[in-house]
Amino acid sequence: MPKYTKTDFPVSNVRRFLEPGPIVLVSSSHKGETNIMTMGWHMIMDFVPSLIGCYIWTENHSFELIRRSRQCVINIPTEDLAATVVKIGNSSGRDIDKFDEYGLTARPGTNVRAPLIDECYASFECKIADSSLIRKYSLFVLEVVKAHVATSPKYPKTIHYRGDGEFMISGANTSKYHKLFNPGML
Ligand SMILES: Cc1cc2nc3c(=O)[nH]c(=O)nc-3n(C[C@H](O)[C@H](O)[C@H](O)COP(=O)(O)O)c2cc1C
Repeated sequence: MPKYTKTDFPVSNVRRFLEPGPIVLVSSSHKGETNIMTMGWHMIMDFVPSLIGCYIWTENHSFELIRRSRQCVINIPTEDLAATVVKIGNSSGRDIDKFDEYGLTARPGTNVRAPLIDECYASFECKIADSSLIRKYSLFVLEVVKAHVATSPKYPKTIHYRGDGEFMISGANTSKYHKLFNPGML
């Protein structure tokens, strides 16, 4: 007996199994205007330098703010902010000031003009490292130039997107497989 019974699945929906999470809030600033967007589509591209690839849709107000300023901050929200995360992702900075509207605190960064979101567990100040894939794929390759991370808890309850409005909150951690792990491979 096979382990699973499988059926054809729409290729346009495979993202539901690959959404990386955690959901992040990307804050930006350009010419005196600040903004925040919700983002699920990001990936690690290197460790040294610390590179993160991010898909930002051209129609998002954040797209031009980040492209023009060449900077942003990737903030990690936790479960207590889940409703705010969805609201931020369902509104545009073209219409509202999201810091004001959602009661979030903008803190100055040290290496970029984009603000850190104080209520988030961590904030990574980023600069665009490579803009060559923006036009074709809306893919921003960002370098983290400074990271601010809360000292506790060790494992924050991060929010992970499963697509179609469903989320998973990070849960149990295990060291059970640690003995199989070769640090040289990751
Ligand atoms: C859970 C969730 C994940 C999202 N992920 C992304 C993403 O990875 N890239 C993207 O361009 N938009 C993403 N969005 C949509 C933007 O957050 C949304 O368009 C936002 O309103 C843009 O705001 P802005 O116009 O102020 O930039 C996501 C929205 C939600 C709710």
